[in-house]
Amino acid sequence: MGIVNVPLGHRSYDIRIGPGVLARLGAECARLGLRKRCAVISDTNVAPRYGKAAQTALTKAGFTSSLIIIPAGETAKSIKTVEACYNQLAAQRLERQSFVVALGGGVVGDLAGFVAATYLRGIPFVQVPTTLLAQVDSSVGGKVGLNLKAGKNLVGAFHQPRLVLCDLDTLASLPMREYRAGLAEVIKYGIIYDPRLFRRLERDLPRLLRRDQRMLATVVARCCEIKADVVRQDETESGLRAILNFGHTIGHALEAISHYGKYLHGEAIAIGQVAAAKLSAQVLGLPAREVERIERIFQSAGLPTQVKLNAPQLRKILAAMSLDKKVSGGEIKFVLARRIGVVEFGHQVPAALIPGSLNPQPSTIH
Ligand SMILES: NC(=O)c1ccc[n+]([C@@H]2O[C@H](COP(=O)([O-])OP(=O)(O)OC[C@H]3O[C@@H](n4cnc5c(N)ncnc54)[C@H](O)[C@@H]3O)[C@@H](O)[C@H]2O)c1
Ligand SMILES: [Zn+2]
Repeated sequence: MGIVNVPLGHRSYDIRIGPGVLARLGAECARLGLRKRCAVISDTNVAPRYGKAAQTALTKAGFTSSLIIIPAGETAKSIKTVEACYNQLAAQRLERQSFVVALGGGVVGDLAGFVAATYLRGIPFVQVPTTLLAQVDSSVGGKVGLNLKAGKNLVGAFHQPRLVLCDLDTLASLPMREYRAGLAEVIKYGIIYDPRLFRRLERDLPRLLRRDQRMLATVVARCCEIKADVVRQDETESGLRAILNFGHTIGHALEAISHYGKYLHGEAIAIGQVAAAKLSAQVLGLPAREVERIERIFQSAGLPTQVKLNAPQLRKILAAMSLDKKVSGGEIKFVLARRIGVVEFGHQVPAALIPGSLNPQPSTIH
């Protein structure tokens, strides 16, 4: 089992990574001194597969648990689902000493984490991420929240988990499309922080696509280490943490204009990262060869790298970018790469360059 620590003073916690770690859920919670009663929040895809194993592990360690099942999918990240969870926690008499276990992908993690952050003004929670995206990204760092009609993640809190358990066995049942989407975040860590990881991915991507457990163990651990290092330095995103948004300015806008229907998050940010690489070449002088390597690795992972947009769609995407919550003072700021492994945040990019970065045949906006 690999262990990565997130060092945040008295809110520090471990990420435990390996096959079969779900069976240790109860023992790990007991080791942390968590109290008797808890609620496992999961979704309609994950609960039937792993709910029982989670509850059995908790029972064995002396905990009393109940299972709260929310609908699968992004629409569950709503105030309505949050309220339904609060009501069930209250009905089950969860107290200040009780805790929540988030068992599922990023949707469950964000939602259950928000419930834990706010119920009785905050109770402890444990993350058991079951998608690749959640294991390398969303379960670490304490950002929790939900969506409003007006946009994604507009309501939220910082609430660090007490423990993250990444059971690599759970990835076996993840649909291939979801798995590839998680790889987009994995590749991102190479681009923003770790040229060695990037080279390893270039060399061993077929092994990772086969979900080879040894490769997964080292790659998930490395991604968590990088995220932990960034979060340690800037927990509440006043600066450096923004580098985790490489490719996300365009990615989020693409998700928004397609009404979160066409692309998975990982697919949208694959396109966004390739676009950001092309912008980096123009603005920061990222060598053309590195742009090609970036494009090629996303292609090898089976992810989209460009999008054909007509003029009205281009206008919409630019408008969506200026609505993104990362915008401050009306300027669209980008994270750009100087080279693979070295990025800088806060670069202003002329809007006129954006269409050409998305589509190989640049279209003009009329
Ligand atoms: N808090 C953060 O820092 C942060 C970072 C990145 C993303 N996010 C959020 O994460 C969410 C996306 O997370 P996601 O990609 O994990 O999506 P998700 O939670 O919707 O999971 C994707 C799909 O896979 C299913 N699933 C999950 N685990 C499975 C398994 N082991 N086997 C079979 N099916 C399984 C789910 O039911 C769902 O249908 C978004 O809401 C995004 O905003 C948060
Ligand atoms: Zn992301």
